[in-house]
Amino acid sequence: MLVLGLESSCDETAAAVVEDGRRVLADVVASQVKVHARYGGVVPELASRHHVVNVVPVLDAALAEARLTLDDIDGVAVTNGPGLVTALLIALQTAKAIAYAKGIPIVGVNHLEGHLNAVYLEPEPHPAFPHLALLVSGGHSSLIRVDGFGALVELGATRDDAAGEAFDKVAKMLRLGYPGGVQIDRLAVDGDPAAVSLPRLMTKPETAYDFSFSGVKTAVLNHIRANGVPEGQALRDLCASFQATVVEVLVRKTRAAVEAFGFDSVQLAGGVAANSGLRAALRAAGAAAGFHVFIPPPRRCTDNAAMIAAAGYHRLAAGERAPLELEATSSMPLPT
Ligand code: KG4
Ligand code: ZN
Repeated sequence: MLVLGLESSCDETAAAVVEDGRRVLADVVASQVKVHARYGGVVPELASRHHVVNVVPVLDAALAEARLTLDDIDGVAVTNGPGLVTALLIALQTAKAIAYAKGIPIVGVNHLEGHLNAVYLEPEPHPAFPHLALLVSGGHSSLIRVDGFGALVELGATRDDAAGEAFDKVAKMLRLGYPGGVQIDRLAVDGDPAAVSLPRLMTKPETAYDFSFSGVKTAVLNHIRANGVPEGQALRDLCASFQATVVEVLVRKTRAAVEAFGFDSVQLAGGVAANSGLRAALRAAGAAAGFHVFIPPPRRCTDNAAMIAAAGYHRLAAGERAPLELEATSSMPLPT
């Protein structure tokens, strides 16, 4: 089954064609990073306008890359939440128009479910069910039990900032531009992670699988207030210290969940899964504690439509059909 995936939940306009939820025939992403960089964050109205401009060229590019036309497509999968509603609407209305014009089925995909399907686009082995997912993106940080495709149970989540949000806010304080996660990652490579001591909160048992990143963010702010915005090696050291603090907490809670529930496999997903420190630390934890670690390549950790097509494939194959009244929603529970 050839599934067209469309995604416009934040600042990436993306289209992809995936066969049977596994084989990527095309994967095109138009990033709006340059549009939003001067504002230090995503401006929803600008995101929508750029999705409007980009969506048809991105769709055309994906079909050209796959050497297909819309007549070859068996179904359409589109992100309908969570995200910026006015941004989501662009891919959603495009998907509906295609489904209506071509008489093919359409399904809505939860963006987070999409992230958890990126790993199945990689060669085998794949994580068996049930397994644990650490999903860390710009909007979410959660530990999720994955019982099957689209069968998800949240074990814990962030109480305040998402991990990616904390990376981006700290990067902004350090005047590294937007989005900052990737800049901090780059600078941290040559920094000393022990240079600045930052609080590692949320260690109480009742919050075993929850996260909180606002404390470490505030600690970085206080450090900057006391010492000024660092440059050179001091900047690299602060980036490394911040990144190591966030990574240590993420990996420790993941290990705790693995031990408590007896998982033998963990997948890492979402934009922050592109972080080199987190990738290495989780792999090391898996090797030390004896669980398998699955991580998609960095470009499939950040937003793309191939993961949406993969998630949508399982829904379409199970006979799911969304009505053309399908709505975009800013918040959406995980599918169970
Ligand atoms: O999944 P994603 O592309 O969009 C959302 O669904 O939110 O995640 C974007 C987030 C941003 O906060 C970005 O700074 C972060 O992922 N990110 C990184 C890295 N690459 C992207 N954070 C840390 N290190 C990276 N290398
Ligand atoms: Zn995302």
